[in-house]
Amino acid sequence: MDFQEMKQQLLQRLLDKELVTATISQPRTKSNDIKRVKLKPIELKGIYHIQLEYQYERILKHENIPLTLIETTLNELFEQFRQLHGEFTNENIQLQLSKKNKVLWKVEQTAKKVVNLSHNRKKNYLLDPETAYPFLIRLGVQSSDGKVKKQKYDKFKQINRFIEFIHDSLDYLPTDRTIRILDFGSGKSYLTFALYHYLKIEQGLDIRVTGLDLKKEVIEDCAQISKDLNYDQLEFLVGDINDYNDETAVDMVVTLHACDVATDMALARAVKWGAKVILSVPCCQHELNSQLQSTPLDIMLQHGLVKERFAALATDSIRAEILSLVGYEAQLLEFIDIENTPKNILIRAYYTGKKQTVVQKARYNAFTKFLSAEPFLEKELKEYIQ
Ligand SMILES: C[S@@+](CC[C@H](N)C(=O)[O-])C[C@H]1O[C@@H](n2cnc3c(N)ncnc32)[C@H](O)[C@@H]1O
Repeated sequence: MDFQEMKQQLLQRLLDKELVTATISQPRTKSNDIKRVKLKPIELKGIYHIQLEYQYERILKHENIPLTLIETTLNELFEQFRQLHGEFTNENIQLQLSKKNKVLWKVEQTAKKVVNLSHNRKKNYLLDPETAYPFLIRLGVQSSDGKVKKQKYDKFKQINRFIEFIHDSLDYLPTDRTIRILDFGSGKSYLTFALYHYLKIEQGLDIRVTGLDLKKEVIEDCAQISKDLNYDQLEFLVGDINDYNDETAVDMVVTLHACDVATDMALARAVKWGAKVILSVPCCQHELNSQLQSTPLDIMLQHGLVKERFAALATDSIRAEILSLVGYEAQLLEFIDIENTPKNILIRAYYTGKKQTVVQKARYNAFTKFLSAEPFLEKELKEYIQ
């Protein structure tokens, strides 16, 4: 198949409304600000569109294209990118282009998939609210007949959102060995069980997961649930993030609401272990709040409430920036709706090995100097930040 025919084949499938989801990646030039583009069909005012989600280093942008314009868009995309993984109603397609547009085209026939055009997140859940999942029943999120309990619907939404992040990280995880995952401050471990269910049971991946928390009784409960569910590669340990250093290499580090600098300690460990994926939802933050001093900001900082919120946002921005400086593509994303909890920022970092630039380092120094900030994470990672 040649390049033109390949585009024609894809175009036909798009025009026939067979797209379920696709990711176009591998920019032809390193200078391309867009790293990958996700495609999915949506209906807007009753008209079929294809939504493009452009992933930049730090932000996502969306564009909705009607089918009448999709050919031009497709041509533009393949001028910029060389790879596509696509799910269509009856097949999965993997496409790889050489620099000179030689086409490698692999099609795998699949069972018929349903195309969901809804904008409504409820219908797009990776865990189906109508399906009974043993771990959700055991954790009390679903009743024994598999219905999500009314009072647990927010938790169900949070679990689903988290699984979306896990799903999006799949490309960064190794495929040639057991994937090692640590969840720091796992608490009641709803998300740890969800992660295990999704990667091990649904995706069939070879993983080993450890949940760590200070609370002995909670950890004992989780270990019992794991045993009852026969989750033989999911263990729970009692311990302090600050003291835990039993590993040499870890592929994914998760921290959800680990308090204060425990989040930074977990991030530092993750970097030192060479984790490919970091997903971290920070909790309360006191460190920067006590350091903050910046006369031009006095109008804000004189108000305790504003100072606290500003300190939390500045801390997360600093965390993301430090991760970028040490070779990660780091983004701050909304975890769940702000009405459910104000602690709704998720730091997502994928290791790319990209070297820090002098400009980036100078920008970081200027920011921390302006705020009189001396971040714990910077101190922990000083040998990685030149
Ligand atoms: C708010 S809970 C969140 C639990 C769970 N990750 C979740 O999102 O549902 C925070 C947990 O982090 C644990 N934690 C806080 N600091 C810790 C530390 N230094 N070492 C280990 N666990 C810690 C607490 O015991 C608590 O269970």
